[in-house]
Amino acid sequence: GIKIVTIGGGSSYTPELVEGFIKRYDSLPIRELWLVDIPEGQEKLEIVGNLAKRMVKKAGLPIEVHLTLDRREALKDADFVTTQFRVGLLAARAKDERIPLKYNVIGQETNGPGGLFKGLRTIPVILDIVKDMEELCPNAWLINFTNPAGMVTEAVLRHSNWRKIVGLCNVPISIQMSVAKLLEVEPERVHVDFAGLNHMVYGLHVYLDGKDVTKEVLDEMTSGKHASATMRNIAAIDWDPDFIKALGAIPCGYHRYYYKQAQMLEHEHEEAAEQGTRAEVVQKLEKELFELYKDENLDIKPPQLEKRGGAYYSDAACSLIDSMYNDKRDIQPVNTINNGAIASIPDESAVEISSVITKDGPKPISIGDLPVPVRGLVQQIKSFERVAAEAAVTGDYDKALLALTINPLLPSDKVAKEILNEMLEAHKEHLPQF
Ligand code: NAD
Ligand code: G6P
Ligand code: MN
Ligand code: MN
Repeated sequence: GIKIVTIGGGSSYTPELVEGFIKRYDSLPIRELWLVDIPEGQEKLEIVGNLAKRMVKKAGLPIEVHLTLDRREALKDADFVTTQFRVGLLAARAKDERIPLKYNVIGQETNGPGGLFKGLRTIPVILDIVKDMEELCPNAWLINFTNPAGMVTEAVLRHSNWRKIVGLCNVPISIQMSVAKLLEVEPERVHVDFAGLNHMVYGLHVYLDGKDVTKEVLDEMTSGKHASATMRNIAAIDWDPDFIKALGAIPCGYHRYYYKQAQMLEHEHEEAAEQGTRAEVVQKLEKELFELYKDENLDIKPPQLEKRGGAYYSDAACSLIDSMYNDKRDIQPVNTINNGAIASIPDESAVEISSVITKDGPKPISIGDLPVPVRGLVQQIKSFERVAAEAAVTGDYDKALLALTINPLLPSDKVAKEILNEMLEAHKEHLPQF
């Protein structure tokens, strides 16, 4: 039987993961699912873990669900390890979003200063997990959702000897679903060629039943007939139709922070004043979800989970694990080592790209190179991720300052330094390396 370990098991997304495993039991017979958390998350772990047990029981499947705070006990002989933890919980994310706004800079969990600090808090933990895996489950695959997923994957590839890592995000699958909706067809008939970085990915070509319909999709997208597609956590501010047509590719929701920086910033200020930042909104959402999860009569994933920006990411994870376990060789968009697939990105770096999924991991499908208009921004974000990962590993102040200053969302070295100093102080409890 297969042994899966989920680190950050107390996450409100866990029921989606469990639902995905139950659905795929015939091809992916899981014997043990270990949900791991830390003392601060124990209450969440128990609530969500008990729901997971009820779900498995209802399905009548012999999957053992184990709840533990002992990561090393859980990791022993694992086949797949999924990571979905949040160092410092949502309170830390709220600071990542609030502090930059004081300096009139985008406050966002994976972009700009917020992305840097989430990386600084997360990377030391992921590198510890990898060390445990080397010792306790050297043949396992690490499937990481923990954000910033691109920077985290980069850090593991660059600063450890571990290579069996795949980073995952729900943005590509959401794009595929929204394109299917535009075309009014089943999502299975749509194929999108994805390339770029995590939260910086582009749909370069779209196919319907194998026929290239990229231009038709861009025309439809910009026709004014459809609401702007986005993730639950990103304001659906409309794209300029002429810009999208000129770009010739489908941007992801997060590109709004770069191509529409001023409008997004203005919107963030309004939201922060009216209802709170996204973390503050999610804190309330999470409370509601856990109230539902506590109900002993609940034995399915409640539909309210779809209010979270990460809806469907566990489903992507289950498909990925299924394809790896069964050597399916289907195509899925994942974060993996570039290996020359995108010419203008270093071979050793993490990219988010359509890949053939095999038992030996994803094989990225070479695209030659990114189109010129998007190439530079992708390279700049990759430089940011690399320098940020170095800062996270070394605890070097100058590296952190460099990372933040070269980030395209920062207006100057001076503002970068002010934000850096305030955030280092605010987060010092979770930044032992500094
Ligand atoms: P959350 O705040 O519910 O945290 C999940 C759990 O992690 C909590 O129960 C917490 O106690 C635990 N945790 C914190 N530090 C830990 C540690 N060192 N070891 C083990 N567990 C630890 O978070 P969430 O909203 O469910 O999101 C979890 C993570 O997944 C975040 O990093 C988030 O950004 C990411 N995420 C990614 C995607 C994606 O597309 N890749 C989608 C959704 C969420
Ligand atoms: C998106 C991203 C995830 C991110 C999530 C935030 O879907 O792909 O990486 O974690 O949204 O959602 P939330 O509900 O926490 O704001
Ligand atoms: Mn994501
Ligand atoms: Mn084409």
